Amino acid sequence: MCGIVGYIGYEDVKEIILSGLEKLEYRGYDSAGIALVNEDGVNIFKDKGRIKDLRSIVDENVKSYLGIGHTRWATHGVPNRINSHPHQSCSKRFTLVHNGIIENEVDLRNKYLSDVHFESDTDTETIVQLIQKFVDEGEAVELAIRHTMSEIQGSYALAILDKDDPNTIYAAKNKSPLLAGIGEGFNMIGSDAMAMISRTNMFYELEDKEFIKITKDSIDIYTIYGAKIDKKPFKADIDLSDIEKGIYPHYMLKEIEEQPFVIRKIINQYSNENGYPYIEKEIIDDVKDCDKVYIIACGTSYHAGLVGKQLLEKIANKPTEVIIASEFVYNMPLLSKKPLFLFISQSGETADCRSVLVKIKKMGYKSLTITNVKGSTLSRESDYTLLLHAGPEIAVCSTKAYTAQIAVLSILTTLVNNTISIDIFKELSKIANVMESLCDNVDLYRKLAEDYLLGQRSCFYIGRHIDYFVCLEAALKLKEISYIQTEGFAAGELKHGTIALIEDRTPVIAIITQEAINLNTRSNIKEVKARGANTLVITMKKLSTETDQIVIDDVHEMLSPLVAIISAQYIAYYAALQRGCDIDKPRNLAKSVTVE
Ligand code: AGP
Ligand code: GLU
Repeated sequence: MCGIVGYIGYEDVKEIILSGLEKLEYRGYDSAGIALVNEDGVNIFKDKGRIKDLRSIVDENVKSYLGIGHTRWATHGVPNRINSHPHQSCSKRFTLVHNGIIENEVDLRNKYLSDVHFESDTDTETIVQLIQKFVDEGEAVELAIRHTMSEIQGSYALAILDKDDPNTIYAAKNKSPLLAGIGEGFNMIGSDAMAMISRTNMFYELEDKEFIKITKDSIDIYTIYGAKIDKKPFKADIDLSDIEKGIYPHYMLKEIEEQPFVIRKIINQYSNENGYPYIEKEIIDDVKDCDKVYIIACGTSYHAGLVGKQLLEKIANKPTEVIIASEFVYNMPLLSKKPLFLFISQSGETADCRSVLVKIKKMGYKSLTITNVKGSTLSRESDYTLLLHAGPEIAVCSTKAYTAQIAVLSILTTLVNNTISIDIFKELSKIANVMESLCDNVDLYRKLAEDYLLGQRSCFYIGRHIDYFVCLEAALKLKEISYIQTEGFAAGELKHGTIALIEDRTPVIAIITQEAINLNTRSNIKEVKARGANTLVITMKKLSTETDQIVIDDVHEMLSPLVAIISAQYIAYYAALQRGCDIDKPRNLAKSVTVE
């Protein structure tokens, strides 16, 4: 979940590393550090805090053309200066930054390093001490690094400096994402393209168990056994404007308001030359041929998957099961005879999803990944990929990826078996227009957030049918950025116990977009109101009453999540703003969860 970046070349490296880390900060931001190599040796600056705090401790007078940096999401060892990266070996010869988890760090310390004094509580320090150990035993540096790779169980993206060789960055990768950036007179290493896009848009994608040696004029890639690998570089289709906030105070607000544009872009990207919906035949055929689709995802993507199940089952008559990735890995259900696995992941790097992909591939099953990141691990390792074309999503709190995932799922579904003859492009175009009109109501959302949530410690979103799945997503939005304990709850289930939590002024937000359950959910609103709740209704025009607070222009009921979620995104945004929370980097979170 952290971000790493390295540079070796002809420019002063400080600002390149620091600005690269700023582009990676969404991946983890509890502490940060940088190592700068020059004739004085390896100069390390690191501490708890954000990149802006790191900037304040970096000595401007230190000139260097070789450096590595790290922004951390702690897994082993509290966020403090000692545990922040970079970490050094006991002789201070080797310096290293790491993204991932070393699962067998205790065994390695007991087996090889019992005589070594460890400075930190991190698993990471085990790696750099092990490299030192093997070099002390006579191994060449490259062999010592590859030997260390062979001993490690777990995930790592590493950038390593050797004080005795100030012209090289060594790197290594297993499960955690890592790219090598290709420059003219310089080269880079980084967790993703955004950390390096200001300097280059040409990259090598690194695979598991690969070892990399980088100088300012060369990038050499090897297997863990030392065999040279020839790779084709790829060009990243990101431009800098995509990853800047522009006029917006927060990425989240920018990304909420990009949603109409993203829906229209998806229509365009999934059109054939005649303007009709198009997805590669082999993907459609494999979805048609399977006897069940297993949707595997986490967090917001899991919530999009729940809507995907509704689409696949109710439009395409395709049996579908949606399973949280981290559950599937260790508690796999009885599978159908001919399953197809559909991974939904904005980042395409979520370790929990990747663990499932590795497992089902070994079982010989086919996989399709829906992701926002071209060339991401899940995309590269699945049989097929469908891209979201949503542009980089920087805010930790996912918004445009959620609606993009549902839009792509709706196109896929109607191409597999359009049993209700929905004109999907016509409906999605209408959705984009309705989203646009909803984005014009920001004053309403700001006021509702203030009236209902200011000073509140808990909140409920309630709904039935597909609205219940939207409530789960709405609740995640609110809790993850405002820290208000929020539950998405099946409206009909509340009375079976949880209604005991309702007290005077407890905010309860009902989402009602399905005619079939309109009156049922309204009864549930009355039940909670009778117990003191402060209720708010989000509904469609055709179902609305004069007391409903948020009324949305009517859209196809199967696609209502795409518009019902918009006001919930804004309400979460304003609730967090009014509480002084860090909107784009909520506490304890990271954008891409690349550790299990
Ligand atoms: C959503 O707001 C959260 N940031 C989180 O739940 C996220 O959706 C989850 O970690 C899955 O990420 P992915 O889509 O990149 O796999
Ligand atoms: N496991 C390492 C640590 O806790 C790296 C965590 C990360 O990938 O951010 O420092």
